[in-house]
Amino acid sequence: MEIKAATGALASIKTGAIIINHYEGLRQPEGAAADIDKKMDGAILKLIKQKDIKGKLNEITLIHSMGKLPAGKVVVLGLGKKQELTVNKLRGAIAETCRYLRGKSITSVASVITGEGINRIKTEDAMQAMTEGAVLGLYAFRKYITKKENDFGEIKELTIVGKIKKSIEQAINKGKIIAEAANYARDMVNEPSNFMTPTQMAGVARQLAKKYGLKVEIFEKDKIKDLGMGGLLGVSRGSQEPPKFIILSYKGRQSDEIDLALVGKGITFDSGGISIKPSENMADMKGDMAGGAAALATLSALAQLKPAINVTAFVPATENLPSGTAMKPGDIISAMNGKTIEVLNTDAEGRLILADALSYAAKLGAKAIVDVATLTGACQIALGKICSGAFTNNQSLLDKAITAAKDAGEPAWQLPMFEEYREFIKSDVADIKNTGNRYGGAITAAKFLEEFVDKTPWVHLDIAGTYDTDKDKGYLVKGATGVPVRTLVNLILAQVKQ
Ligand code: BES
Ligand code: MN
Ligand code: ZN
Repeated sequence: MEIKAATGALASIKTGAIIINHYEGLRQPEGAAADIDKKMDGAILKLIKQKDIKGKLNEITLIHSMGKLPAGKVVVLGLGKKQELTVNKLRGAIAETCRYLRGKSITSVASVITGEGINRIKTEDAMQAMTEGAVLGLYAFRKYITKKENDFGEIKELTIVGKIKKSIEQAINKGKIIAEAANYARDMVNEPSNFMTPTQMAGVARQLAKKYGLKVEIFEKDKIKDLGMGGLLGVSRGSQEPPKFIILSYKGRQSDEIDLALVGKGITFDSGGISIKPSENMADMKGDMAGGAAALATLSALAQLKPAINVTAFVPATENLPSGTAMKPGDIISAMNGKTIEVLNTDAEGRLILADALSYAAKLGAKAIVDVATLTGACQIALGKICSGAFTNNQSLLDKAITAAKDAGEPAWQLPMFEEYREFIKSDVADIKNTGNRYGGAITAAKFLEEFVDKTPWVHLDIAGTYDTDKDKGYLVKGATGVPVRTLVNLILAQVKQ
């Protein structure tokens, strides 16, 4: 989709549909809506008076222009109460509208800049949010559907009209880069595990490196063994697919230091291993590499936005399958930092491969680490599918991450890391065990990870509940969400600004 900015009046644009806005409680159209209403001989005012248009958030009213405008149709988009408008609501409303119009076989759309000045929303932020809403909301994963229906449309062009200046064009460009990175992560996660193997994930990292001039390094099994990555090796033992340890680096400033390490869980399929999962919903576990996908996709955005910071992604990638060679409950393995782990449940595999990746990032001297993982069903039970769980050993880094998440509309909620939780992962026969008791599973998993970051400031995001969604809603489309790519980009950009 092409998104462009144009100076001029919405009423004079020749396009499939124009989008204007109405707020709950207003008795008449305002701004561009008033202008269009005049051209439409008061049709909109009439609908407002009859209460056919109420202005509720995401209310969509489609009106034919009947030749009174160069545009074929007019959409009146409700944005709720003016004093309650947020950038995130705007992002969702534009997404809903674009999807609706695609369903009506419309191929080009125009809108005024929406929301600027309301509740101190900056013009640039409104533009970025509108762009993101359109790109995220129109996402579709249809590559394996062979019947190309002509009723599944495509919006090819979005024109945003207003007083256009350079900073507005930059905001569109930024929104596009960030939303496309999130869609890239969605593509990876939606891809079934017979295609998105660890080898394929490494291939994706190589492609990104080539396309954007990033540095890539893939450790094969021998190197993984040499480095003593017993967690990644142990988990991969049940699978025929070779494990990969993927390292993708973005260098935004002259120095060899790693300012931030992004560590992403890359389980391309999680059957549970010998501690096998029930078959119901097991298919969802093709998405158990969503953390790794987010880390890689974030770097693709950085390569285009070019902030002055060095960020490296570390993605341990493997399948978790049962077989005659698989790791068994009771086995003891040793992670890269030398700590021994009693594996009581082979389905708690994420923390085993992350143990190695966190150890490695800490050993390289990363100044801060953010890890992202579909780690525990317990996190999804605790927070539902609305918020990711957030954990830390460094409150100020976490506060920044939570702010970045809020701004992205990908909320994260902090859970505690009290010392008292540590005792549940004590083992009688090794340094630590890989499962706690029945309760507080998201927290005991985070306490486990903490053992491998040394003293490095670290944030852990558990995205088990948020990596996918079961329905289209706002800018989310059924399937993978791309969470938390936009959070990570926000966090990194904010880190550079300060
Ligand atoms: N990948 C799963 C967690 C998960 C569950 C992600 C649902 C997304 C949706 C993880 O590897 C896992 O199996 N965790 C176990 C841990 C338990 C055995 C301690 C879980 O949550 O049940
Ligand atoms: Mn598992
Ligand atoms: Zn898993």
